[in-house]
Amino acid sequence: MRTHRVTIHWRQKGRVISHEVPEGEYILQSFEKQGDPLPFSCRNGCCTSCAVRIQQGELDQQEAMGLSRELRAKGYGLLCVARAVGPLVAETQDEDEVYDLQFGRHFGRGKITRDIPLEELETWKE
Ligand code: FES
Repeated sequence: MRTHRVTIHWRQKGRVISHEVPEGEYILQSFEKQGDPLPFSCRNGCCTSCAVRIQQGELDQQEAMGLSRELRAKGYGLLCVARAVGPLVAETQDEDEVYDLQFGRHFGRGKITRDIPLEELETWKE
């Protein structure tokens, strides 16, 4: 079986982890099977918890719904739905970093500051 060397710089833990990943296998799952679980949450390519930024190489992540085409072009990847297609070196990202880049324009635009009079709220119940 063909394999590819995948190296992950896990910034938050100060670790560098490297494994041979069989072609066609998800990188996150392969690392888990080899004793090195990496950060994750949904495992479906939606939440960005497993996001990395590619330093060298490329990956196949056609199922990464939680990552825009623009962020993929900037080198971000989601390991839970990424397959190695060659040697790869990447580093973990802060969850909020990629989440904000991906979803920040839709959420988190500040607090709602309008005070709604109680009388007006009462009319909303009708
Ligand atoms: S674990 Fe949620 S996108 Fe990978």
